[in-house]
Amino acid sequence: MIKHLLSIEDLNAEQIEDILNRADYYARALYDGRWDRDKLDQKIVLTLFFENSTRTVTSFDIAAKRLGADVVNWNADLSSLSKDESFSDTIDTLSAMKPDCIVIRHSDYGAPKFVADRVKCPVVNAGDSWREHPTQAFLDALTMIQEKGKLKGLNVAICGDVAHSRVANSNARLLTKMGANVRFVAPQMLMPQKLPAEGIECFDSIEEGIKDADVVMMLRIQKERMDRGTIPDEAAYFNNYGLTFERLKHAKPDAIVMHPGPMNRGVEIADDVADDPKRSMMKRQVANGIPTRMAILDMVMSSKK
Ligand code: CP
Repeated sequence: MIKHLLSIEDLNAEQIEDILNRADYYARALYDGRWDRDKLDQKIVLTLFFENSTRTVTSFDIAAKRLGADVVNWNADLSSLSKDESFSDTIDTLSAMKPDCIVIRHSDYGAPKFVADRVKCPVVNAGDSWREHPTQAFLDALTMIQEKGKLKGLNVAICGDVAHSRVANSNARLLTKMGANVRFVAPQMLMPQKLPAEGIECFDSIEEGIKDADVVMMLRIQKERMDRGTIPDEAAYFNNYGLTFERLKHAKPDAIVMHPGPMNRGVEIADDVADDPKRSMMKRQVANGIPTRMAILDMVMSSKK
């Protein structure tokens, strides 16, 4: 049992497996239409998104409601932050209303941990700066297990703007802990200076980096997080690093293509690859956000403090 979910870095392989097993349970239960709809009855989940989101905020909302919880989607733009109330006073104020769980996304490094240290309820990280996005890594791992039957021994190439990607960090940590072989594929300016886990292989050629990959995970260029270097010319970037069917031939014949979204078509991925019903897992990833977040909410809100 875990009290909060703040990072993959905090978790061991057994805890990761427990969460993945519970996510798999909820994926099957949703498919069969049989699960405990009152599991979180009378509980209130407070979502605090200080950064925009389509997938994560909506799937936490739906996941909580599927388990019978009420959800309060707090809106930073309409809050008293605009009247210069500080972040810590805002958190103390919201905590005084006694939510049963806080789900937070913030652009500042370590904000979810800062909140977890101040409040009495469980806190779930829904995106922490460029550092971690643990629930995304869990839904991605669930998708890989559904398609490939395992994580151990899989060759997973994570390609694109790895330097600014919390998804790359969390995925690399989870996958290496579970025995997968992780590669980062990026031009030098988009490769992180410090790798998030041991054993990651780095490539600046996409053809070499995706060779014999079971999973090719593409990432968008995160212009909002770029504080060094220049933004590459998008057409040139696509020519050198965009995933096309021609390039995908370097991966295994049954390799799947993943993308956490939002995607930029014609920049990191070609339309026909993104829309391929057999190879592209993007819609499945989005769907898996619901059982994965049900599992995580169930786990943190059911755990004895
Ligand atoms: N993958 C992901 O975090 O998407 P959103 O920014 O839409 O939540």
